[in-house]
Amino acid sequence: MSAVGELLAAFRDYLLSRSDPGLHHFIEGFRWPMEERALAPHDLPVVRYLHEPRRPGNGAESALLHRLSDAANVLHWAQTYSITDFGADFLQRYGWIELFGTRGHFASEDMAGGFLLLGPGVHYPDHHHEAEEIYIPLSDGSLWSKDAQPFLPHWSGEIIHHPSNIRHAMRTDDEPLVALYLWRGGPLAQKSIISGRMQ
Ligand SMILES: [Fe+2]
Repeated sequence: MSAVGELLAAFRDYLLSRSDPGLHHFIEGFRWPMEERALAPHDLPVVRYLHEPRRPGNGAESALLHRLSDAANVLHWAQTYSITDFGADFLQRYGWIELFGTRGHFASEDMAGGFLLLGPGVHYPDHHHEAEEIYIPLSDGSLWSKDAQPFLPHWSGEIIHHPSNIRHAMRTDDEPLVALYLWRGGPLAQKSIISGRMQ
């Protein structure tokens, strides 16, 4: 199995190991066997934060994070935004990898999934999109806002659900954010609509 195939298996097994009813409903019926696309590796500046020493964890999230780190150099890291959206510094500390979906390492028209990375000291302003979304942080202490509510810290393994078109935003302090994401029920390659401003 390819390194990306092993990461997909770990991603699937992690989700299936969770007993959360909302997550279970979100992924119910999804066909995990998918055709692999030949995507060339593509590096981004933010990927360096994935390899920084961090406090050792022994949970399932930590194991998945290490899998991601091990596979990082063969993954096609990408960005949706350009310099005119949030500026040059944001692009140094932001990126994602689509493991499966309409353009990712494995082909699916039904659901997209992958990982988001934010470096320390980032504000990812309010944005929204038609697809329904689940995030599960694999790191601790990132701050999240939903529906213009105050930012609240979230921890590794928490399941964060964004219904279709709800505004959401994230911030990091000293620690980077690594989060698993799932998109379903809307255009899977839509660029988010930005409603917030950089602060
Ligand atoms: Fe989102």
